[in-house]
Amino acid sequence: MEYFLGIDVGTTGCKALLIDEKGQLVAQASAEYPLFTPRPNWAEQNPEDWWQGTLQAWRKVFSASGIDPKSLAGVGLTGQMHGSVFLDERGEVLRPAILWCDQRTDRECAEITQRVGREKLMEINCNPVLPGFTAPKIIWVKNNQPEVYQKINRVLLPKDYIRFCLTGEFATDVSDASGTSLFDVPRRTWSQEIIELLELNPDWFPPCFESPEVTGFVRQEIREMFGLREKVAVVAGGGDNAAGAVGTGIVRPGLVSASLGTSGVVFAFSDQVKVDQEGRVHTFCHAVPGKWHVMGVMLAAGGSLRWFRDVLGKEEQAVSSFLEKDVYQVLTEGAALAETGAEGLIFLPYLTGERTPHADPYARGVFFGLTLKHRKNEMVRSVLEGVTFGMRDSFEIIKEMGIPIEEVRAIGGGARSPLWRKIQASIYQVPLSRVRVDEGPAFGAALLAAVGQGGFSSVEEACEKTVSVIDREQPDPKMMTDYQELYAIYRDLYPALRDFYRRIANLTKD
Ligand code: XUL
Repeated sequence: MEYFLGIDVGTTGCKALLIDEKGQLVAQASAEYPLFTPRPNWAEQNPEDWWQGTLQAWRKVFSASGIDPKSLAGVGLTGQMHGSVFLDERGEVLRPAILWCDQRTDRECAEITQRVGREKLMEINCNPVLPGFTAPKIIWVKNNQPEVYQKINRVLLPKDYIRFCLTGEFATDVSDASGTSLFDVPRRTWSQEIIELLELNPDWFPPCFESPEVTGFVRQEIREMFGLREKVAVVAGGGDNAAGAVGTGIVRPGLVSASLGTSGVVFAFSDQVKVDQEGRVHTFCHAVPGKWHVMGVMLAAGGSLRWFRDVLGKEEQAVSSFLEKDVYQVLTEGAALAETGAEGLIFLPYLTGERTPHADPYARGVFFGLTLKHRKNEMVRSVLEGVTFGMRDSFEIIKEMGIPIEEVRAIGGGARSPLWRKIQASIYQVPLSRVRVDEGPAFGAALLAAVGQGGFSSVEEACEKTVSVIDREQPDPKMMTDYQELYAIYRDLYPALRDFYRRIANLTKD
């Protein structure tokens, strides 16, 4: 039996997941690493921490599975998108990576848009430049850390830095490269035109592959470390959302996933390049060769609940360790006792600014409608509901674009809570299914490795044979009605607050 390893370089940690050649899950393990916020809207990580996390998760998954390391045939990489790793000519990391959720580059976005022109950006990259994307981070370093900028020899995305550590090769894939603002999304290749207009060095950007293609082999030192066979192929892999979509089977028209992890992502398959001219949702290449996807991204979805847990959930943390229960389970069980609509309390989940639908780095989180009557259960419930309203915004845009939505699959931590699934089904107003292996990106990356090694004839076939739906949550008619007016109020709150967000940002100099 041969095995394939999927590695997901996430924001909170790295996950390693093993499947056998039939695509059955064998074992998984993870290792956490820190995220640094030197200023309120900045987010950075050390690429070396990702690498150490990868090695740790890999060791753990090998020991949990007990497989013969020599039976590992391939590795697939995935990870948080957009983050920028700057390397010098010796391959050394020049500064901490600036992450997808970092919001410092508002000015640089304007600069790029002005240089390239919005129309050209929409035509070539199919997306406006947004603060989370990669190109504005490069320009930020140019504008603010010229001593670093002049030493740049390579710019890599997070999973591609791990590829470099693993194989010594520089490479990327079309889905991840789509989120750099430097990529020609319809043609699935780097845009020399945008790169030139921004006066960037085209040699900084690695060769680009379709996701299941082999980009290199694990280098000797790592082979010896793990006792691997001589040739272990590493495939291109994909950005976490595209790889996650493979792991969830979102590989044909009509299928959409709703993922609640740190970020919240609504991901719709598309076999053509479809673009929202307002740029509220992203159009990127899919990890399925020759296909695309459209997605809406909220920056603080599960991240909002994590913030609540850390700042206001000390009691629940104590209860959870006493009962040996997951703290999110304790929090969401409490929220299930609150009424639908949290007695008029509405949470705006813009804790780190927002991308879809508002693309506003200055937006802030809000509890709207607090009264003396509200208790913690209502607050948690309003967080779950507010995040889900934010996801509904993406569904509305995707519908407007004429992209079919036949089946929605819930993934990520948010899919594990029965209450949050019910809230999602009722707010999206569609039945919500779950898949058997809810380890989206790492599982998808492992499947891509299996496809790359000929274990399956295509990504579609791999999904057909391995991804199965386990249950389906129906919307609750009463909750659907209750949410109607609340959602309308939710939608009206952002435009009403927009100017105040800017005034607060000026005050705190964010
Ligand atoms: C996608 C995005 C996030 C990160 C999180 O555009 O920014 O989903 O990939 O890992």
